[in-house]
Amino acid sequence: MAGGFVSQTPGVRNYNYKLTPKVFVTCFIGAFGGLIFGYDLGISGGVTQMEPFLEEFFPDVHRKMKSAHQNEYCRFDSQLLTLFTSSLYLAALVSSLFASTITRVFGRKWSMFLGGFTFFIGSAFNGFAQNIAMLLIGRILLGFGVGFANQSVPVYLSEMAPPNLRGAFNNGFQVAIIFGIVVATIINYFTAQLKGNIGWRISLGLACVPAMMIMIGALILPDTPNSLIERGFTDKAKQMLQSIRGTNEVDEEFQDLIDASEESKQVKHPWKNILLPRYRPQLIITCFIPFFQQLTGINVITFYAPVLFQTLGFGSKASLLSAMVTGIIELLCTFVSVFTVDRFGRRVLFLQGGIQMLISQIAIGVMIGVKFGTVGTGDIGKTDANLIVALICIYVAGFAWSWGTLGWLVASEIAPLEIRSAAQATNVAVNMFFTFLVAQLFLTMLCHMKFGLFFFFAVFVFIMTIFIYLMLPETKNVPIEEMNRVWKAHWFWGRFIPDEAVGVSAAEMQQKSV
Ligand code: BGC
Repeated sequence: MAGGFVSQTPGVRNYNYKLTPKVFVTCFIGAFGGLIFGYDLGISGGVTQMEPFLEEFFPDVHRKMKSAHQNEYCRFDSQLLTLFTSSLYLAALVSSLFASTITRVFGRKWSMFLGGFTFFIGSAFNGFAQNIAMLLIGRILLGFGVGFANQSVPVYLSEMAPPNLRGAFNNGFQVAIIFGIVVATIINYFTAQLKGNIGWRISLGLACVPAMMIMIGALILPDTPNSLIERGFTDKAKQMLQSIRGTNEVDEEFQDLIDASEESKQVKHPWKNILLPRYRPQLIITCFIPFFQQLTGINVITFYAPVLFQTLGFGSKASLLSAMVTGIIELLCTFVSVFTVDRFGRRVLFLQGGIQMLISQIAIGVMIGVKFGTVGTGDIGKTDANLIVALICIYVAGFAWSWGTLGWLVASEIAPLEIRSAAQATNVAVNMFFTFLVAQLFLTMLCHMKFGLFFFFAVFVFIMTIFIYLMLPETKNVPIEEMNRVWKAHWFWGRFIPDEAVGVSAAEMQQKSV
């Protein structure tokens, strides 16, 4: 089994480049792609708490919310209200599948541009919405934007970054997501205090700002060397590689990119090929990572923190404030991953974060269970409510440096060029599907499963932690076009990788790694 746990795979070259200002600036701008996703994640929960918004579009929910003696667990249960939040993710799922072709054929930056553009139009529909139809059309356009950006940005960052710093650079995407969430919650905090409809209109309309940032960013960004070679611009690709690596000594990496591209040319249909046995490890991991990421239950906090805090008896203002605090903690803790992921590796963070989330979730479930029981009525004292907020912060911190950042990093770095776009699209599509499901079902689940909901997610966190331990090899410092060697050396996945893909047999690789 040793092959599964090696951190330094035998035969893998390490180019050891220095960090250049060009690659830093490029990845910094590229990471803006996470802002639209984050802004939306953060804005919806708060807006669906604003009374003028509910009165205007969801009068039934508004009435229910105001009624006294309501079962706390069921206060906000409305399928239509959750559809407002979750419709975006279905649209993102569909668009990520188209985005994969655009990313491959026209380059990563045009997918990013399209993402910003559709998000921009969506923000106008939402900010000026007069009826529920405008609201939903706007959400769908925003969703298209998110699908394009999430499909292209992580791949862009992973290809641009030097291999020894790929984790840190790719994490820029998650930093941008969380930054978007925090800014959105701060905006909600202020707009919620405005009278009439202007508050929610500002919140939804301001989505145009991150959209413009991505559009402008995408126009000035260069494309990745991998994508330039893939599209036949070999000379330009070499110059680009030399300029982002800050040296002319890039022959080895360049040759790897050329080889990867040659191999990828044999593949005419990435979608059909990803189903071949030799890509089984990548396919399974790119399906399970986003599935598990969503089953951590994080979006219960992201979307519904304000709702959850109100359920715990906080006032509307205190709820938004608490949501802001959890967002800021998540942002700070994401940097833990930025600074450690290339040193300690992906596996350590996944395993540590998983255990932390598991313990805090069980504790939250127990506390809410004791206070509200199964009937869902009762009063929670200030100290207990603060303790629950603290536990939520511990949970969010664990997520931030494990599944939050790595969910996007791992899927974008494990697939060979010929299926990379399709693999990333699969990652986004699965992620969006389960984001949709959690968003759509959470309030109903809370209403029926009550505090048991936290145990439900804890069981999944337990399973996913075991899964990582057994099935995910370490990928830190491995050049992206040499990833096949990592799979070949793994105790289980090795059997799927043909010898010619790495030039050695699985037995030899595993022997070397013991
Ligand atoms: C996840 C989102 C989540 C966000 C913030 C991202 O990595 O994909 O679903 O809302 O992190 O926690």
